[in-house]
Amino acid sequence: MKRILISALVLLMAGWSIAATDNEDGSRLWLRFNRTNTTASITGVKGTAMSELQAYWQGAPVVLKRQKGLAADGYTIKTQGGKIMVAAANDAGLLYGAYHLLRLQQTGESCAALDISEKPAYDLRILNHWDNPNGTVERGFAGKSIFLNPDPERMKLYARANASVGINGTVLNNVNAKPEALSTESLQKAKTIADQLRPYGIRVYLSINFASPIKIGGLPTADPLNADVVRWWKDKVNEIYRLIPDFGGFLVKANSEGEPGPQDFGRTHADGANMLAGVLKPHKGVVMWRAFVYKAQSSDRANQAYEEFMPLDGQFADNVIIQVKNGPIDFQPREPYSPLFTAMQKTPMMVEFQITQEYLGAANHLVYLAPMWQEFFSFVKPASLKAMAGVANIGDDANWCGHHFAQANWYAFGRLAWNPSLRSEEIASEWLKQTFSTLPWDALVDLMMSSREACVNYMMPLGIHHIFAGTHHYGPEPWYAPRGVRADWTPPYYHKADAVGLGFDRTLKGSTNVKQYPAELCKLYNDINTCPENLLAWFHHVPWDHQMKSGRTFWDELCHKYDDGVRAARRFLVVWDTMQPYVDSQRFLEVQHKLRIQARDAEWWRDACLLYFQTFSQRPIPQDMEHPVHNLDEMKKFRIPIGMYENPECGYTR
Ligand code: GCU
Repeated sequence: MKRILISALVLLMAGWSIAATDNEDGSRLWLRFNRTNTTASITGVKGTAMSELQAYWQGAPVVLKRQKGLAADGYTIKTQGGKIMVAAANDAGLLYGAYHLLRLQQTGESCAALDISEKPAYDLRILNHWDNPNGTVERGFAGKSIFLNPDPERMKLYARANASVGINGTVLNNVNAKPEALSTESLQKAKTIADQLRPYGIRVYLSINFASPIKIGGLPTADPLNADVVRWWKDKVNEIYRLIPDFGGFLVKANSEGEPGPQDFGRTHADGANMLAGVLKPHKGVVMWRAFVYKAQSSDRANQAYEEFMPLDGQFADNVIIQVKNGPIDFQPREPYSPLFTAMQKTPMMVEFQITQEYLGAANHLVYLAPMWQEFFSFVKPASLKAMAGVANIGDDANWCGHHFAQANWYAFGRLAWNPSLRSEEIASEWLKQTFSTLPWDALVDLMMSSREACVNYMMPLGIHHIFAGTHHYGPEPWYAPRGVRADWTPPYYHKADAVGLGFDRTLKGSTNVKQYPAELCKLYNDINTCPENLLAWFHHVPWDHQMKSGRTFWDELCHKYDDGVRAARRFLVVWDTMQPYVDSQRFLEVQHKLRIQARDAEWWRDACLLYFQTFSQRPIPQDMEHPVHNLDEMKKFRIPIGMYENPECGYTR
């Protein structure tokens, strides 16, 4: 007994000493450079480029020079006579060139004969923070807002991380904007942040509440065509630019989910957007006007953005960009692309991706999102868009994103906003090499690459969508439909399970949603025999016995997909366990802990969904797969422990 106690003590001490010397909390993100020199602080964006290189670059001398004729923010890097020449048309380009070099260094690439030429696909590569004035973060799973008490060191790292992947804009506050966002006090705070981010080529933007002229201006109306209202916005915008001369512009959620908008005054989205665009124009500001609109009475929520915005195509001012979520409903694990992207031809548009995993396991599940975003780009030509926005997954947690691997999604967003045709694998491998410098990466690249499909499989395979719990978007509650809750906020509206089958009929015989897509896709999606199986229940009410390509019935295939998802999630844990010798103990244990939650959640999803859908299909679970280990009543009673899904202090509307 005594011997056991002593060895336990020795182990504990050993563990402690490993943790003490080998303690990584993830706070350094992918910027784990070793400092080679101390630097004098040099001002301006070019100064930042010089001091980053002075501090961390270990290779041949680098010369930074401005050169006309290159694209804004673009750069060339060439090895010439023992030196490395970085040329760019503007200082931001020099900074991006410097980070390119540091990335090559950190990923072990040769810098002996460089001949690189880069330019970003989009001028505007922007994060949207859904941060509230009280410091909570809507759909945030990584602590409180980093902007609540902006700590200069933390803000510097935030800026460096963004600039290192080319992100050049940030919206500081929630799209469900409080009118106070424009109060003089808030603007002073925005100025402080803007000053901290400017040396890294990052501009700040604000979400605005359309009723601000009433709420903080004391006017009787916020009608965009009213002269007093326009004057109020003009004065407000002048005040902003006095404080923040390079302020980027406004992001607007209007007439959506109860937020005020021009329709409250009998005006259109175009009237509202153009009025704001007019007052921002002299300052070169932009309006990002969101198309996330849907009303309770509709027969198909997926139709609505198109119905509201298509008639306005061509009516928006040239400094308005319509910001559209990638899918027509809401950031589901898989959606088809939003048909507005191919339909609106006369209006600048930008895509809004969600980096924070509102519907993909929050900060508990390892889900690498780049493959999902690239799926979108396989339908929507990158060049047809004007800009790219991502809803940030950043908070004041030590590791920034709640899950060490969620940092990869922030990283990948920036890399794709720079170049949407980069391969997801390459981005994953780049990120891994920089973030976990000592791991055998290949197995982890595979794991990351399969993680999105795994999540789709254990949550909502074959086109199923929005079957989340009524009070959170974390776990399954396909049965949730209490009286009095609007139908489109309940899962049965979306899955429509009955004795015949499962899925939403959006064909020409159903809600006709397929008609919003180009003719060839309309035809493809409309026919149950040609519709891609991964979108089958999105577009069709699929009979339980429908024959799938595998030869199985739809019901059997559904069961197998859920089980594939569970098995994949368990495999992630096995793969990660083999990484123990190569990774510091803190990050190893923290990731392991999250992967255990993910594997258990996958089982929860499979059992809850299959047992519930089985009450309609009345068919057995196939013999050749693991059967549910819970029963339906247990699943219906199950409540997630507080704190497991999100920090209870974090803002959360529904
Ligand atoms: C989703 C999300 C909300 C958010 C909204 C939006 O509905 O759950 O929290 O406000 O999207 O994008 O505006």
